[in-house]
Amino acid sequence: MKQIISRQDFIKEYLEFFKSKQHHHIPSSSLIPENDHTVLFTTAGMHHLVPFLIGQKHPLGKRLVSVQKCIRTDDIDEVGDPFHHTFFEMLGNWSLGDYFKEDAIKFSFEFLTNVLKLPKEKLAVSCFAGDTDSPKDEKSEKIWLSLGIPKERIAFLPKVNNWWGPAGETGPCGPDTEIFYWSAKTKTPKSFNSEDERWVEIWNDVFMQYEKTKDGKYSPLQQKNVDTGMGVERTLAILNNLNDNYQTSIFQPIIKEIESISNIKYGKNKSDTRAMRIIADHIRAAVFILGDERAIIPSNIGQGYVLRRLIRRAIRYGKLLGIKENFTLKIAKVIIPTYPDYQELQRNHKFISEQLNEEELRFNQTLEKGLKKFREIATDNLISGKEAFLLFQSYGFPIEFTQELANEKGIKVDLEEYNSEFQKHQDLSRTASAGMFKSGLADDSEATRKLHTATHLLNEALRRVLSPDIKQKGSNITPERLRFDFNFPRKLTQEEIKKVEEVVNTIIKKSLSVKREEVPLQDALSSGAQAEFGAKYPELVSVYTIIDKDEKQGWYSKEICTGPHISNTSDLGHFKIVKEEAVAAGIRRIKAITE
Ligand code: ALA
Repeated sequence: MKQIISRQDFIKEYLEFFKSKQHHHIPSSSLIPENDHTVLFTTAGMHHLVPFLIGQKHPLGKRLVSVQKCIRTDDIDEVGDPFHHTFFEMLGNWSLGDYFKEDAIKFSFEFLTNVLKLPKEKLAVSCFAGDTDSPKDEKSEKIWLSLGIPKERIAFLPKVNNWWGPAGETGPCGPDTEIFYWSAKTKTPKSFNSEDERWVEIWNDVFMQYEKTKDGKYSPLQQKNVDTGMGVERTLAILNNLNDNYQTSIFQPIIKEIESISNIKYGKNKSDTRAMRIIADHIRAAVFILGDERAIIPSNIGQGYVLRRLIRRAIRYGKLLGIKENFTLKIAKVIIPTYPDYQELQRNHKFISEQLNEEELRFNQTLEKGLKKFREIATDNLISGKEAFLLFQSYGFPIEFTQELANEKGIKVDLEEYNSEFQKHQDLSRTASAGMFKSGLADDSEATRKLHTATHLLNEALRRVLSPDIKQKGSNITPERLRFDFNFPRKLTQEEIKKVEEVVNTIIKKSLSVKREEVPLQDALSSGAQAEFGAKYPELVSVYTIIDKDEKQGWYSKEICTGPHISNTSDLGHFKIVKEEAVAAGIRRIKAITE
């Protein structure tokens, strides 16, 4: 077997191999999916390729290869064992209506046995067993047999095992064939047993030929695609004969840093080792989320909430190791140089450090008191929803965190009551804000309505001038001025400010009409309406569209918003930005007027 020690070498071999098979290398896309509100994070390399899997032409052709950064949080409780991660890198190659089963399987086999030199005798595969949606995959079996994989090493398994996708609720998917490697030092068994965990899945070749529709049906796609995924961390461990991903060169510097901070040796004690793995995993994930090209900060909603949970969970495990000082920053400093190929981490290193540090300071202020409160509460065998909500609201304990603490003591948490408390609180704060402000409005006066419409114009102008990734992070409007907060990593230049003003003033001069309609939330989102990420919306929402026939899509801006607005942009007068400043790391604030 070829000994590939480093992550970089392994990745390079993979990319080179597929480039030699005429695949174009595409860069990893953001961890935050664009135009997909059904998932919080990018969970696989295919995610941003969905339009091309369903028929749109990709500018770089029909064969693509990439290394994609991914986050999956469904197995967060398993993190701590040798193999599970919340963040990982996925190697993938795609055929967009080009080659299909034969070449896909042959490429995988050639790469594993010829390039990586994994012995064929240690491989096994599974294929789709067939059901009413799609037939048994005998074609893949035939190809594997022709490559010398014996029949006893080929298992036919149902949809739960051998079907992949869609990544969200609807979209491209299909049967797959998965490749397993015998990871134990013992002799490889003659036949494959998918239940035996020593058979480690290393690669998944998905034959994306269906689209799952809203009604749960599988309809054939207009083209047959291949989508594959191989986990870097796991395969690297196998290539180095290790049965613990945390002992690979990816994690070793991080583990060493945790050892030095905690003064505890990795591998010596089971629970400490688990804690070290959780810290390494969670801080690595946090570094990638914070360093992502779409700035995310810890918060109580959406991706920000996941980020908060990861950081806070890591901090608590640090406490369990007896770490007294603030440490997340130190670990981040070791992680960033491990990934020179993700330039966004270098670019955003200051932002990453600041945010980690702030979140750690914030949590440390309440953690001890919160834990004391928890001990007071945790005397019975049930923690009420009200108590869990108190821990959330006053001490910043995410509910999953309270559940974990309770679990350790064999106590249950009344989740149902917690949810209804949470809901009640949301409703209350909504009612309160509806009374005082509508959508951040101080009143309903004509002047305020004008500035509210100007805010929508500004929001879209920022996306056009600065970056399509701009999201509203808050707004406040009085009859005198508008205030708008958004994510952006640096100060705007004078030229950028001028350009933004120009875009807004051009739209004002075009006398565009502002249309309001009530539509189901899903329709609003799929029509491209802007929404606040992770915010809870009712089933039916009102959408404000600024109609512009000159635009391809027929409008200049579209936002989910409760209003009210003026009915034509011509009423606005001249738009002027009076101030541009930072409010928090990665968040800018603009104040503007119309005159
Ligand atoms: N999209 C497939 C996976 O994630 C390849 O396993």
